[in-house]
Amino acid sequence: MQNPQDVQQAAQALRAKLAHSAPQGHTVAPRTGIVLGTGLGELAEHLGNSIAVPYADVPGYPLSTVEGHEGRFIYGMLGTVPVILQQGRCHLYEGYSPREVCMGVRIMHEMGVRNLIITNAAGALNPQFDAGGLMLITDHINMTGLSPLTGANHEAWGLRYPDMSAVYDKEYLTLALRCAAQEGLRVERGVYLCTAGPQLETPAETRFFRSIGADAVGMSTVMESIAAHHVGMRILGIACLTNKNLPDCMAPATIEDIVHTAQISGAAMLRLVSALVAELG
Ligand code: HPA
Repeated sequence: MQNPQDVQQAAQALRAKLAHSAPQGHTVAPRTGIVLGTGLGELAEHLGNSIAVPYADVPGYPLSTVEGHEGRFIYGMLGTVPVILQQGRCHLYEGYSPREVCMGVRIMHEMGVRNLIITNAAGALNPQFDAGGLMLITDHINMTGLSPLTGANHEAWGLRYPDMSAVYDKEYLTLALRCAAQEGLRVERGVYLCTAGPQLETPAETRFFRSIGADAVGMSTVMESIAAHHVGMRILGIACLTNKNLPDCMAPATIEDIVHTAQISGAAMLRLVSALVAELG
């Protein structure tokens, strides 16, 4: 489990940096946080009056080493709503511990964020889903064998044995479906399975993951969702399906293709997230 003092210190420093750069009289108090996945960083360019703080300027924050992950918090207005973005996240496969992976989400919570939109790039396992599509996450399977809640529990954050029967907020799912319909966007719904990575899946693993109920597979989101749910944040997860994994005719997947497809789907993701944030207020 994370040291709460480290999170408090980091949140204080981040808030102070943002307040320093914000227009006079503006209170930095976002209620909505967004974690941007691989190739989806473009959303950050659509924030009005944005202020960026590199992770390197936040005391105690682990630095992301992944290409395509810029590594900064960005505060700004998405339409009329103040939001804070995490552009670039830390992954288990970089060697970070679950607590390091979840530091950003816990900092955002400490700053007052209560709605969390988590995005990622994932491989589709459901044969009916297409590469380039978006999937709203209804539930997850944690195949990492790890948890951000390992160690002493911090009671002020949440319970020792948190219930996991509804990690992804049902009302937000319904809202997201309505927003997608309004925007004319097709979205799938399904179960996201998280591996520790960084290797992609073998055909046998792909067959197994599908058979245990997963619709998409990726290497992120689940640690953050567990930590965010533990502290009582309302979560909406959106996977960008960058490739299609069919165990009986596996095509090689490269990170270049995955990032490229995520970037193309970024436009749809932006429309969906913007519509949603406007509703969340
Ligand atoms: N497997 C795991 N992670 C991924 C994939 C995949 O096929 N595509 C994008 N992220």
